[in-house]
Amino acid sequence: MIAGQPIFILREGTKRETGKDAMKENIEAAIAISNSVRSSLGPRGMDKMLVDSLGDIVITNDGVTILKEMDVEHPAAKMMVEVSKTQDSFVGDGTTTAVILAGSLLQQAQTLINQNVHPTVISDGYRMASEESKRIIDSIAIPIEKNEKENLMKMAETSLNSKSASSSRDKLAQISYEAIKSIAEKRDNKYYVDFDNLQVVKKQGGAIDDTVLINGIIVDKEKVHPGMPDFIKEAKIALIDAALEIKKPEFDTNLRIEDPTMIQKFLSQEEDMLKEMVEKIKSVNANVVITQKGIDDMAQHYFAKDGIYAVRRVKKSDMDKLAKATGATVVSTIDEISSSDLGYAEKVEQIKVGDDYMTFVTGCKNPKAVSILVRGETEHVVDEIERSITDSLHVVSSALEDGAYTAGGGATAAEIAYKLRGYASKIGGRQQLAIEKFADALEEIPRALAENAGLDPIDIILKIRSEHAKGNKFHGVNVFTGEVEDMVKNGVIEPTRVGKQAIESATEAAIMILRIDDVIATKSSGSAPRPPAGSSGED
Ligand SMILES: Nc1ncnc2c1ncn2[C@@H]1O[C@H](COP(=O)(O)OP(=O)(O)OP(=O)(O)O)[C@@H](O)[C@H]1O
Ligand SMILES: [Mg+2]
Repeated sequence: MIAGQPIFILREGTKRETGKDAMKENIEAAIAISNSVRSSLGPRGMDKMLVDSLGDIVITNDGVTILKEMDVEHPAAKMMVEVSKTQDSFVGDGTTTAVILAGSLLQQAQTLINQNVHPTVISDGYRMASEESKRIIDSIAIPIEKNEKENLMKMAETSLNSKSASSSRDKLAQISYEAIKSIAEKRDNKYYVDFDNLQVVKKQGGAIDDTVLINGIIVDKEKVHPGMPDFIKEAKIALIDAALEIKKPEFDTNLRIEDPTMIQKFLSQEEDMLKEMVEKIKSVNANVVITQKGIDDMAQHYFAKDGIYAVRRVKKSDMDKLAKATGATVVSTIDEISSSDLGYAEKVEQIKVGDDYMTFVTGCKNPKAVSILVRGETEHVVDEIERSITDSLHVVSSALEDGAYTAGGGATAAEIAYKLRGYASKIGGRQQLAIEKFADALEEIPRALAENAGLDPIDIILKIRSEHAKGNKFHGVNVFTGEVEDMVKNGVIEPTRVGKQAIESATEAAIMILRIDDVIATKSSGSAPRPPAGSSGED
């Protein structure tokens, strides 16, 4: 106020919260998000059914999918959704873990804030603890080299354990292992996995166990003409991004016919043009034609007559995969096609899958191109299997690339918590408090696993702590027996990257939320009444 006159800086209706109130509200929103996925953690966790505004249903156990479908509005809650997305894009698994961790870090921070510890001190302590945690994971990590196959399969199984697909986990783990092994490339003694070589295709119908790995590419399209062969050996494939049709004029056009023979001439000219296109493709010796656009009936007929297998309206992404796999170049002008543009595959074949026909391109020039055909009884099952197998594929590839694993079942989190408490006492000061709270927050993972399995969480945490104090660094909770055991011996293992990334992104999100002490929300302009539909602005 200047001389009694109020000064308006913010627009009228702007909502503003500052200090502890702002922080408290953000923390509560973030914790609410974390609590919403908590019950889905682990093999005994539950699934969620999400229904969108159109009534479409998604049933899933996948943390990131749950949060993406939830359509959250609160800004701090949105940051938690980001945590799961980050985890998903860097590791592919552990999205629930990362969000639970971020929530419990904030919960612990809240108790310190209530004791008047400044958020900056908490952030510093958390950052130190996060760095130390990653060092601790590296210090207990086991290299995968020995029994590589067995270890990778076990990691895939651990990841599949918590999904509804767990009854078929042996089969799906085997497929994940083989798929990643066939696309992985070894350079300077290190593995690199390029997911562009891998295609996951869903087809409803059949059992989960009918899911197969194919050495090649699957196109969800059938041949365009029944007269074409079902099967082409030694396929020379033309990939075309142009219509094998005569383009219709864009404007209304009139054709003046003065003589009845002209009609015939006109029609046969159209036919000749199509024939020319087919002849051009035939002249470079292609016996398979795959196009992104349409194929005219007449052209289909000529292809069939020449024993050429043709498929139309193929997705751009499939065209790119086919190009990479068969070594073909996608041509956009048929006139310019040459034999060097063709790709090669040992076999192109039409196969009936469920109720539909699909085109299988196998034995490709590039042997690294593989596809997984996911099967399941209903649409919801197929979707969830696809998400689960994608998780396990990423788990296998992370483990292969990093070459190390640690124990699951909350064992790694418990070991870090144990070691962090020792580290905290060396740091001292107020940051010590934050580091200790960080350790408490990590124990939320074995606690949630135990709780979801119907076990007594306090009892389990005490048992785990006492084992780790004795030097049993791989002891975690076996959710099926309720015992605290060595998880490495149990075969419950996961790549080091899952835990490291979960800690990193959870810490970053928690710190970011802790640093906010002022929330200024402008009134949304969307709430202004809109003119009724159909009326013009001036009405
Ligand atoms: N047999 C088992 N006993 C105990 N814990 C297990 C077992 N199998 C898996 N787990 C644990 O379950 C947890 C993973 O659960 P879940 O897959 O539901 O969540 P996530 O991997 O964090 O997230 P998401 O898979 O949704 O991305 C890990 O901590 C893993 O160690
Ligand atoms: Mg998982």
